[in-house]
Amino acid sequence: MAKKQWNRREFLRDSTAAVAGSALAGFFIGDARSFGSPGKRLSPNERPGIALIGAGGRGRSDANTAGNYGDVIAVCDVDERHRNKAAKELKAEHQYHNFRSLLQERDDVHVVVNGTPDHWHTLINLMAVRTGRDIYSEKPLTLTIDEGKRLVREVKRHGTVFQTGSQQRSDSNFRKACELVRNGRLGKLKHIEVGLPTGPKEGPFSAEPVPSALDWDFYQGQARWMPYNGHNAHWNFRWWYRFSGGQMTDWGAHHCDIAQWGHGTERSGPVSVNGKEIVGGMPGGYTTAVEYRVEYKYQDGVTMTVTNRADRGVRFEGSDGWIFVSRGELKASDDSLLDEPLSGDVIRLYQSDNHMKNFFDCVRDRKDPVADAEIGHRSVSVAHIGVISMRAGRPLKWDPEQEQFLGEIEANQWLSRDMRPPYDYRFIA
Ligand SMILES: NC(=O)c1ccc[n+]([C@@H]2O[C@H](COP(=O)([O-])OP(=O)(O)OC[C@H]3O[C@@H](n4cnc5c(N)ncnc54)[C@H](O)[C@@H]3O)[C@@H](O)[C@H]2O)c1
Repeated sequence: MAKKQWNRREFLRDSTAAVAGSALAGFFIGDARSFGSPGKRLSPNERPGIALIGAGGRGRSDANTAGNYGDVIAVCDVDERHRNKAAKELKAEHQYHNFRSLLQERDDVHVVVNGTPDHWHTLINLMAVRTGRDIYSEKPLTLTIDEGKRLVREVKRHGTVFQTGSQQRSDSNFRKACELVRNGRLGKLKHIEVGLPTGPKEGPFSAEPVPSALDWDFYQGQARWMPYNGHNAHWNFRWWYRFSGGQMTDWGAHHCDIAQWGHGTERSGPVSVNGKEIVGGMPGGYTTAVEYRVEYKYQDGVTMTVTNRADRGVRFEGSDGWIFVSRGELKASDDSLLDEPLSGDVIRLYQSDNHMKNFFDCVRDRKDPVADAEIGHRSVSVAHIGVISMRAGRPLKWDPEQEQFLGEIEANQWLSRDMRPPYDYRFIA
């Protein structure tokens, strides 16, 4: 079969060709304005003020939970319907259309819950960091690897308490599986099998009138502009490469996170990747991969396959057996692998039994939560390099220290994307 050629135009379809690389220059060096908690520590009986930015399904659910630990004061969304619904449900007094106004005006907001689509996460997170807020941001943390590197740098520099919404880290089954693997319960770890859902294959779609409540230009943000079609906003943004990475990043961010936690590479990454799109998107419809298989290798020889398959979850395979973990399921080649407690001088992983509570505990104690910004960035990086290899149609070598492809000029261009003005880094400068 002929090898798929590198197709720069294909990538450009999902970003904007109009902006020169200069738009990606060092705007991250912003002024640190401390309105919130880093400048002013909360006393134990003070409740942090919370703003929800991105009030769709997940954002509302996160903010509801966050309301157990603070007061939801403000809600921001570019869709008036979502904003009104969330403000009512969360009893939030203030509503905003533009997150910049919210972050500039509200000194009573200490914490931002970011429930926007993936392509908006980084600009909002960066501005929240610079204005001194702590952040609970949904996964997949970024749209590109370059975004993640900028975010991690700024979070460290500002001392932000940052929790990625990878809540599997606060589930005892996942922690137990990873702790057992890390302590050699499987003998030598050899292979990790990650199962994700199959993506939808739908389309073509025709342009439709934009609902009057939705600011479609603002919604699209950095992504290259496309007509609204009723299938490219809200839940379905996931299936367009311009906004997200399909199942590879949507579920991949969760399960690759667990794979790297168990492997002990949560702040690093693989050294090679070979992605294959088995069934691709639909012309004129969803663009992300439907069926796919991505193979990775790590420095220590451990291999990992990420593919769409029926048994979704993470299966660690070692010389002495296997352990499979998924939501609500933990099983092994032999029950004794799970039943025998670890004893003595063992590696204990960060214990959090409630993802949101862990975040708010850390806001008070100024500690790192269980899924800090670097972990969120590194987990989705695994998915991003898989998508890049898949779309390039060839295997690539990855340097997890420099966070670059080796010997690749073209592939390295896709570590960032041109951003459609005005929604580039200047938007939050
Ligand atoms: N942790 C989990 O298990 C989990 C589950 C579901 C979704 N998520 C993540 O949560 C995020 C949101 O997903 P969803 O399913 O709730 O999507 P959604 O479409 O229901 O909600 C996104 C909301 O963000 C709004 N929005 C878009 N651009 C905005 C901007 N610039 N400013 C303010 N609001 C803006 C949209 O209008 C919409 O209301 C995604 O990143 C998704 O991957 C995580």
